[in-house]
Amino acid sequence: MSFRTTGTTSTTSSTDRTAAVDYVEDVSPGEGALAPRAWYASSDAKCLSLNGSWRFRLSQTADAEDDSFAADGYDAGDWAEVTVPGHWVLQGEGAFGSPIYTNHLYPFPVDPPRVPTENPTGDHLRVFDLPADWPQLSDGGAVLRFDGVESCARVWLNGTELGEFKGSRLAHEFTVGHLLKTVGNVLAVRVHQWSAGSYLEDQDQWWLPGIFRDVTLLHRPAGAVRDFFVHASYDHVTGEGTLRVDSDVDGRVTVPALDIDVATGEPVAVPVEPWTAETPRLYDGVLATEGERVPLRIGFRTVELADGLIKVNGEPVLFKGVNRHEWHPRRGRALDLETMREDVLLMKRHNVNAVRTSHYPPHPAFLGLCDEYGLWVIDECDLETHGFVEQDWRDNPVDDDRWTPALLDRAARMVERDKNHPSVVIWSLGNEAGTGRGLTAMAEWIHARDTSRLVHYEGDWSCRDTDMYSRMYASHEEVDRIGRDLDGGTGKRRGLPFLLCEYAHAMGNGPGGLADYQRIFEAHDRVQGGFVWEWIDHGIEHPTLGYAYGGDFGEELHDGNFVCDGLLLPDRTPSPGLTEFKKVIEPVGVEGCGDGTVRVTNKQDFADLSALAFTWSFEADGETVASGGLPVPALAAGESAEVKLPQPPPDLPAGAETGWTVRAVLAEDGPWASAGHVVAWGRLPVTARVAPSVAAAVGPVAEGGLISLGPAAFDARTGALRSIGPVAVTGLRLDVWRATTDNDDGTDWKSHVRHSTLWRELGLHRMRHRLDAVELGDDALTVRTRVAPAAREVGLSTVYTWRSDGDRIQLTVSVTPEGDWTVPLPRLGVRFGLAEADAVTWFGGGAGEAYPDSRTASAVGRWQSTVDRLQTPYVRPQENGARADVRWAELGGLRIEGDPEFWFTARRWTSEQLDAARHRTDLAPGDTVWVNLDHGQHGLGSQSCGPGPLPQYFLNAAPAEFSFVFTATG
Ligand code: GAL
Repeated sequence: MSFRTTGTTSTTSSTDRTAAVDYVEDVSPGEGALAPRAWYASSDAKCLSLNGSWRFRLSQTADAEDDSFAADGYDAGDWAEVTVPGHWVLQGEGAFGSPIYTNHLYPFPVDPPRVPTENPTGDHLRVFDLPADWPQLSDGGAVLRFDGVESCARVWLNGTELGEFKGSRLAHEFTVGHLLKTVGNVLAVRVHQWSAGSYLEDQDQWWLPGIFRDVTLLHRPAGAVRDFFVHASYDHVTGEGTLRVDSDVDGRVTVPALDIDVATGEPVAVPVEPWTAETPRLYDGVLATEGERVPLRIGFRTVELADGLIKVNGEPVLFKGVNRHEWHPRRGRALDLETMREDVLLMKRHNVNAVRTSHYPPHPAFLGLCDEYGLWVIDECDLETHGFVEQDWRDNPVDDDRWTPALLDRAARMVERDKNHPSVVIWSLGNEAGTGRGLTAMAEWIHARDTSRLVHYEGDWSCRDTDMYSRMYASHEEVDRIGRDLDGGTGKRRGLPFLLCEYAHAMGNGPGGLADYQRIFEAHDRVQGGFVWEWIDHGIEHPTLGYAYGGDFGEELHDGNFVCDGLLLPDRTPSPGLTEFKKVIEPVGVEGCGDGTVRVTNKQDFADLSALAFTWSFEADGETVASGGLPVPALAAGESAEVKLPQPPPDLPAGAETGWTVRAVLAEDGPWASAGHVVAWGRLPVTARVAPSVAAAVGPVAEGGLISLGPAAFDARTGALRSIGPVAVTGLRLDVWRATTDNDDGTDWKSHVRHSTLWRELGLHRMRHRLDAVELGDDALTVRTRVAPAAREVGLSTVYTWRSDGDRIQLTVSVTPEGDWTVPLPRLGVRFGLAEADAVTWFGGGAGEAYPDSRTASAVGRWQSTVDRLQTPYVRPQENGARADVRWAELGGLRIEGDPEFWFTARRWTSEQLDAARHRTDLAPGDTVWVNLDHGQHGLGSQSCGPGPLPQYFLNAAPAEFSFVFTATG
C-alpha cells in the first residue's frame, strides 16, 4: 500500500494498488456524465428499461477484481443475480452482506475523503438487445440514465468506459448512442458502497448500497428536446397565468385547454385556474421540437416571500407536513410507482398537505404524484454531514472549498431534474451539515438559477443563505415565542417566516402534543407550520424478528430502533399517531356553539368547501339514533359560519348520554378517496352521562377461606378478588407501571429528564404490595395496603373498598401518596387477569388508542374489537393500545363501568413481558388476558428526539379516588 500526500488528488505510482480506484476517494462529483437536465418521459422517443435481473459479483474491496468483466464476451455465467433496482444487502439472504443503521455516526473512520479498505463492491452486468422497434442506430443518439446508485458507480458499455459518478439519489446520464449495437450490448456497472460521496450522505437511515433506482436507455432523435424549464406563474390579482417554456432546443409549446400555441422562450398570459396543493389544477401541454414531443403537466402558481411570509398565489400557506424518507420493508429505498402512490394517497387521506423529501430528492415519479394529487413539496438535496459534529465540525466538507464542486453538482442535479414540478415550492440545501461556504455557494447558485422558489436550510440559524427561519424539535414554548417575535434573533432572521422542518418525533407510541403545536401554528402568522418526523418506520422485514432495526444485523455501531420513528408502521399501516395527526390538522373546524348551532370554519388556505358535504348524527349512549345531511354554505378559505342543527330526536332513553357528531365528508368520488371519506368531524355533547352507582344492599360474609360479597368472592386472608359470578379474576391490584415507550426512554443527547430512567431508578417497575388490613364491615369489604418500591421511602397508601347491591359489585380505589414524590407516575389504575377473553365492546373513545396528549382523534362511541386487535404492533414493543374516556367495557364475561371514565387496555401478556420484549416476535400470548383500568396515564410527549410531555399531561402523584362497577354478563 502506498501513501498519498493528499486524499483528494491522485498522486499515484505504478505500484499503487489503489490507483485504479482513485475516483472512489476523489471529492469530485465524477467524470463523464452529461450536464444535469429536466427528468421527463417523452411521448414519442423510444426508451428501454434496463431494470430486471442483473448478473452480480460482490468483492470485499474496491480493487479486488480488475475491470475485465466490462469487456465484450466476458462470461459471467457463474455470477449470482440481483434485481435492479435494488440494494444488494437486501438480496441474497445474507450472502451479499447486511444493512447497517446509524443515525449520525459514520460507520467508518472519519478521515475525509478516505474510506475503508473493506469497501463492499458490487459488479453488475446486464446484456441487452435493442427491441425490434428501436430506431436505426444512425438515427440520432441515445442516453443511458441512472436514477439512483449508492454510493459511487463506474460504468462501461460494450467495453468502453463511460465515466463514474457519486450523488446517490440523483440522476446521472451518459451519451451512449455511438456505442450501441442491435444485439448483445454489455452494460457493466461497478458500485462501491463507500466513497468520498459517503461523507456527504450521512442521513439518519440504513446504509444500503446498490443500483436502487431505474436504469433506462433513452433514444434521443435528431432535434430532440434536451433540457427545458417551464415557467408558469399566477397573478392572483388579475387571475392570469403566464407561461414561458425555455428550451435549449427551439420548438413550440401548445396547451389546448388554454388555446396556447407559442414558440419556446415566448411568454404568453391567459386567464387560468391556479395550481395549489388544495386545488392541483394541471394543464396538459406539449413541448414539440423537430425531433420529439414531450408531454407537459403545467401548474400555474407563484411562490414568494412577501410581508415576511411564504405566500403562494398571494396567500400565506400553513404547512401540515411530514418528512418522507423512501422506504419499503423488503426493498429498502427501491420503491415502485404503486408504493409511491400509496404514500401520496395515505397523505391526502390523512389531511397532510406538505412533504419534505428528507433528506434527498426522491424518485422523480413521486414528485409527479405530488403535482397530480396536490402536495406542497420541500425538495431537499442529497446532503448531510452530521457525523462531523463528533469533532466539532472540523473538516466539514461544506466548509472546505475542495468539496464545493461536489456540493454544487448536487444542487444542480436536484434543481435541474425537478424544476418543472409545480408541487416543489421550496428547495432545501440538505440536512444537518453544519454551516459553511459550500452551503452559501449552493444557495447562491439555486437562487440565481431559479428565482421562482424559496430556499430552506435548517442548520444555520442566522439564515444567511435561506428565505425562512427553520428549526427542528423546538418546544411549544419556544415556537410560541418565535411566533410572537420574541425569539431574540437578529438581523435577517427577524423578518423571516418560521417553519418547524421537523417536530413531533413519531417514534414508537407517540408523538404527544400535536394538538398543542397546531394551536400555536394557527395562532401566529409567522409560524407557517411544520413537518412531523417522520412518515414511515424503516423496519426491515425479518424472518424471525418481525421487523429488524439497528443492531439486528450485528452492526458494530448502530442506533437501535431510532430508525423506526414513523407515522406509518413499516408495512404502511397507519399508526395511531397518524390518525391523531389527521384530526389535529383537519381542514375544517367544527365546534359547538351551545345553542343548537355549530360553527363550521374552512381552515384551508385556498379552496372553498364545495368539495365537501356535511352530515350530522345524533347519538344516545354511543349509538346513532338519527342522522341526516347538514346544509353548509361553500365557505371560502378562512371563512366560518354558524349552522343550525335540527331538533334532537324525540323519545330518547331516560338518562342516556347524548350528543351530536358533525362530519365533513367528500361529496363525490375524488382522485384520492371516495365519496363519504371523512375529512373532518366534531362532537358536540348534549346530555352528560349519569355516573354508575351501587347502593350497598349486602355485606361481606366470610366462610371457609373465602369472603363473599354479592356476586364476588375474595380470599379471606388477603382480601384478593377471586371471582365475579362465574368469572375467575386473578391478581387485581394497583398498577403504576407501563412498558416504557420510546418517548419515555428519551435520548442520550437531550439534556431533558428521561422519565423511564427516573421511574426505573425509583423502582416503579418493581412495586411491592404490603397488606395492612382486610376489614369486613356491615356493607363493605375494605382492603388496606401500601404499594411501594424496595429501597425507597415513597409509597402509595392504597385502599380498596368493595360494595355490592347483590347483583353488581363496586370497587373504589383510594390512593394517597406518601413521602416526597418528585417524579410523575407512568400510569395509575388497577390491573387484573381473566382466564378467557377475546371480543371486546366498549362505550368510550375509539376506534384507536389514545393517550393524554394524543387523544384528539379518539371519538366517543360504541366500539367493538378483539383483544388482539386492540394492540398496536409497534416495531419495538412498548405500552400501547389504551382506549380513552371509557364509560363501560365488556369482555370475558364481565361488564365494567367506570366512575369517572377510565383508560382501558387488555392484552395477552403482562406489562413486564411487554417491557422486556425487543421485537414483536418476543411476545407470546399467555393463558391470561391482562386488563388495565386506569384512572390516569402519563402523557407521551416527543422526547425520543424532542420535548417531553407538556406539564398539563404529567401524571403527578396526588391523592386520587376512582371506582369501577363490575357485573357478570354471562
Ligand atoms: C433529526 C434529523 C433526522 C432524524 C431525526 C431523528 O435531527 O434531521 O434525520 O435523525 O433527527 O429521528
